[in-house]
Amino acid sequence: MELLRFSVFCCGAVLFGIVLLPVETNTSMIAIKQLCRFCDLQATTCLGKGICKVDCDITSICPDDNDVCVSIWRKKDNNITFETVCHNPANPLYGLYLDDYNNTKCIMKEKKAKDSKFFICSCSKEEECNDNIIFNPHSQVGPVILVSLLPLLVIAIFVITSFYCYRIYSQQGNPRKKGKPLDNTDKHPIIDNEGSDSSSTHANNLNHNTELLPIELDVLVGKGRFAEVYKAKLKQGSSVREEHGFETVAVKIFQFEEYASWKNEKDIFSDADLRHENVLHFLTAEERKGQRQYWLITAYHPLGNLQEYLTNHIISWHDLWLLGSSLARVVAHLHSDRTSCSRFKVPIAHRDIKSSNILVKKDMTCCLCDFGLALRLDNSLSVDELANSGQVGTARYMAPEVLESRINLENIESFKQADVYSMALVLWEIISRCSAIGEVKEYKPPFGNLREHPCVESMKDSVLRDRGRPEIPNSWTSHAGIQMVCGSIEECWDHDPEARLTAHCIAERFDDVEYLDKLSDCSDSEEKMLEEIIVVDEK
Ligand code: ADE
Repeated sequence: MELLRFSVFCCGAVLFGIVLLPVETNTSMIAIKQLCRFCDLQATTCLGKGICKVDCDITSICPDDNDVCVSIWRKKDNNITFETVCHNPANPLYGLYLDDYNNTKCIMKEKKAKDSKFFICSCSKEEECNDNIIFNPHSQVGPVILVSLLPLLVIAIFVITSFYCYRIYSQQGNPRKKGKPLDNTDKHPIIDNEGSDSSSTHANNLNHNTELLPIELDVLVGKGRFAEVYKAKLKQGSSVREEHGFETVAVKIFQFEEYASWKNEKDIFSDADLRHENVLHFLTAEERKGQRQYWLITAYHPLGNLQEYLTNHIISWHDLWLLGSSLARVVAHLHSDRTSCSRFKVPIAHRDIKSSNILVKKDMTCCLCDFGLALRLDNSLSVDELANSGQVGTARYMAPEVLESRINLENIESFKQADVYSMALVLWEIISRCSAIGEVKEYKPPFGNLREHPCVESMKDSVLRDRGRPEIPNSWTSHAGIQMVCGSIEECWDHDPEARLTAHCIAERFDDVEYLDKLSDCSDSEEKMLEEIIVVDEK
């Protein structure tokens, strides 16, 4: 049989040489018959995996023009065979029609067989294409990918292990970061930014960790329109506590329905350019879906808000200067389109400046908080946002144009001017509790004759119809510094928004009185010496 086939091959080859070569120039016209391995059945060591060679020495020119090369691998008991043949795909082979004969490579597919494992492949166009047989090409990809990813996997494990070891080392080996007893919180809270790194990686981020910060809520310290604020403890082991030394924090809790307010405040805090020593230090925002709540976690200020502080304390001129100048500085920072390094930033309007939205820091400076109504004054303001921004804030502190809903929405300066009006009322409250004005009465908010939460209509009567403003008694102006502040306040609550001073200008005026203060602080002996020098000079 083999001899016969060999002779067919030889004759074919001779015929090929004689008949085809003379018309070589016109080969495209003539169908070249397929050259295939053709050994019929023979034993093989191929295990039906990876790539196998069939080990057939006989190459035949297929008898039929339409023939393609076929290889069949079978395993029955321990008997493994390869069958290599030419076959016309128009006809079935072992009851199967070949469906892959246009392939140039012979890629095995398993077919159902009664009592054996049966793989078949066909191919054409390439000579002896049924010689190299490919089993299950996809199974090659897995190991290849695995092998190529192995170095990456090793590096990742190394980095994670090193990071983990570093964390353990820094918690155990660095006494500064060791956990302190929880009852010591007021000594080491995030209270204020002092001593903490304001470039905290936790600041300005939504806490995307599935693990929420381990926090134990303590007492309620504030209640607003949209949220409640709790003093809280960060439990030992929390990264914020270990890395930044924060133990006591404030947690502002919004119920599910107040999502918009939480989102606005979170987005405002997420602007790194907002950071300032007199802006509440933001740590992180969390979605506490299980409790149907949204949280904002910030620094905690144990002295509470300015309204409470002024209710319970009479302050010195020095404290007035610290509170007033820091308030003007932080509002100027918000309104500015430049950072302290002169980079461009988006100006922000607070839109709810009032003494209960200002916390008192331990150094007696202000800390502005509650950015739930704040507005970024950039070009991205939508028509909707602008349309909804006509009248927001607290009626008592609303500028006349806000009470009337006549704020000029096309000019971003209008929002700043409304903030300046509210700031003037807060400066008035601060002065009203300063010992330097003479007799200090008990704390009353501006327009204190009105009920606790006056509505817009009654504020309109006072501020617009009667053009009323809080009283500045003559006695207040006997102190040179306070005289300056009172003059500035009157310019800041002008009915005409355009006539108002800017927060930046108020901050500069505070700096000027500080300079005068320092001059007047010269000791008596220094003053005498100065006088004597002048007298001697005159002589
Ligand atoms: N009341 C509201 N926010 C507060 C905070 N961060 N610290 C202390 N009291 C507050």
